[in-house]
Amino acid sequence: MNKPIGVIDSGVGGLTVVHELMRQLPKERLIYLGDTIRCPYGPRTPEEIREFTWEMVEFLLTKDIKMLVIACNTATAYTLEELQEKLSIPVVGVIQPGARAAIKSTLNNHVGIIGTVGTIHSNAYGIALNTIKPNLHITSVACPTFVPMVERGVLSGKEAEVTVEDALLPLKQFIEMDTLILGCTHYPLLKDVVQQVVGPQVTLISSSEETARETSTILEINQMFNEQNEPCHHQFYTTGDVEIFTSLTKRIFNSSIDNLKSVSIEKVII
Ligand code: DGL
Repeated sequence: MNKPIGVIDSGVGGLTVVHELMRQLPKERLIYLGDTIRCPYGPRTPEEIREFTWEMVEFLLTKDIKMLVIACNTATAYTLEELQEKLSIPVVGVIQPGARAAIKSTLNNHVGIIGTVGTIHSNAYGIALNTIKPNLHITSVACPTFVPMVERGVLSGKEAEVTVEDALLPLKQFIEMDTLILGCTHYPLLKDVVQQVVGPQVTLISSSEETARETSTILEINQMFNEQNEPCHHQFYTTGDVEIFTSLTKRIFNSSIDNLKSVSIEKVII
């Protein structure tokens, strides 16, 4: 099926999932939308998160997508079930895949979770982990300073180190943790700094790999793989500044993307 897969996030974080989708599914065409202008979603109310996510989805539905990947933990926590129920296309989030990857990784059942305030308050990871494996020792910490810093392009250096060190202080008491879930798709961009702070004995889990695997499985089950062999032209949209988005994508992909457009998706209420 030669239709694109839609991928959404509040900003550039979802590109970490796009990167993995491109690696595992090179024949699939992707349309990405980052709602940069309203980023971060993390501190917003559940109603706002739902409203903004629906606006992103409605935009992508006009592009005739065959499947939706919610490459944002916060949006997944508050809208996954609703979107799966209401849309006629398959919808995948990033929380279940991340939880599965963490369960595969932990040897001592001590799992840490870091995420946005919205994701941590929703307890979506706790529920997903416990559904698969009860009796895990879980400690969660919200890191509201990470997303705005990443969106400014600060991924390393003194500011990143101090910010990450401060935010992860509460985890210092959870000394037995052997696995830490990066429960926000922006956080893999800070992976090196986080690893330095928590130490080499902790395995960091980002859900992108497992999410791409799940996407692939769903395409297979539904016989929706793209069967054409032409090179695919991905399309990127941002609701914010094209230049900032371009410079960040250059750093994430190690090359520039050609098809980036600025778009407005807010509903105008008259
Ligand atoms: N990448 C989003 C997530 O995974 C960031 C949310 C935000 O904008 O705060 O949760």
